[in-house]
Amino acid sequence: DKGGWSSFMAKEVAEEPDAVAKTVLGRVHDGQIVIPELDGMDELFQGVSRVIVLACGTAYYAGLVGKYALEQWARIPVDVELAHEFRYRDAIVGPDTLVVSISQSGETMDTLMAVKEAARLGAKTLSICNTQGATIPRESDAIVYTHAGPEVAVASTKAFVAQITALYLLALHVGRVRGALSAEVGVEAIEELEALPEKIQWILDNEQGRIEQLAHWMTDTRSVLFLGRHVGFPIALEGALKLKELSYIHAEGFAAGELKHGPIALIEPGQPVFVMVPSPRDGATLHSKVISNIEEIRARGARVIAVAEEGDAAVLPFADEVLRVPLAAPLFEPVLSVVPLHIFAMGLATAKGLDVDQPRNLAKSVTVE
Ligand code: M6R
Repeated sequence: DKGGWSSFMAKEVAEEPDAVAKTVLGRVHDGQIVIPELDGMDELFQGVSRVIVLACGTAYYAGLVGKYALEQWARIPVDVELAHEFRYRDAIVGPDTLVVSISQSGETMDTLMAVKEAARLGAKTLSICNTQGATIPRESDAIVYTHAGPEVAVASTKAFVAQITALYLLALHVGRVRGALSAEVGVEAIEELEALPEKIQWILDNEQGRIEQLAHWMTDTRSVLFLGRHVGFPIALEGALKLKELSYIHAEGFAAGELKHGPIALIEPGQPVFVMVPSPRDGATLHSKVISNIEEIRARGARVIAVAEEGDAAVLPFADEVLRVPLAAPLFEPVLSVVPLHIFAMGLATAKGLDVDQPRNLAKSVTVE
């Protein structure tokens, strides 16, 4: 039931604040993250020496964001791999490896087969999943459910923000268990986490109309590029995937630092480029590097659409459009900066008269390899 919305996707984007809130609900006690499902697993978390995250599509991008959180808070090395690539190489995995799979449906065949292969090689497996009782969680040693609620539209939106949220929870939990996380950092992170739903709501309330208008103007666009750095890089990839899936426009995401290593050759006058701008408060280094990327592409005629923190004045002289997101600590920025990109992809497809819930050639759950 679309509940009065024009599409399931519109409803699910509107539910993004709720997906984050419900995933956190019941998992914060006395200023600490407590994940009841992981009770009795402390020894396992203390004993593992590395994490491999396995997933496909949008879930893989959530995993890429999770790497930053797990490495920073839990001080554990993390590799993030496409599940289908993991399965057919001679992976070095053993009992000291924790394999974290991420899947909205819990039925993605590529991810399931990779999890089974990891278990066969002796790894411990933990599933982050949105569907109670699905196959992947049933095949795993541990489960952390996301509570985004059923996701019907083929393009994943609210499940994505819930997956990143679950990875934050896992990273904070494992960080505490391993003694890698100070109480102070833990408390600050929980405050940030609990503030996210309201901040997403702010974007929906204040920016959605403008973004849809922008998408409307861009219906004849043939190619869109997305640039991001650090945690903004996986969001650039997600923004490009969503635009491809929904509007059938050619879209690519790049690491902003790669620009000079090739992609800048694509820039010609009028080329739209979304740039994920890190907060200027993050020691300013990343911010100034991304601003100089913007200058470089603008000098070559790019049309820059910046996704930037509210109040970031440095970006104004260089951007054709600025999509605002509320302030958040660096690791939490992706949950906010992805929202304008979801709205944009949906808005552009809608403006083109396309079916946003059921894009051509795609299935909600890919149950074949
Ligand atoms: O159900 P899963 O999370 O395992 O699905 C993984 C991908 O197939 C999925 O995220 C896909 O990329 C979506 N269509 C993205 O919008």
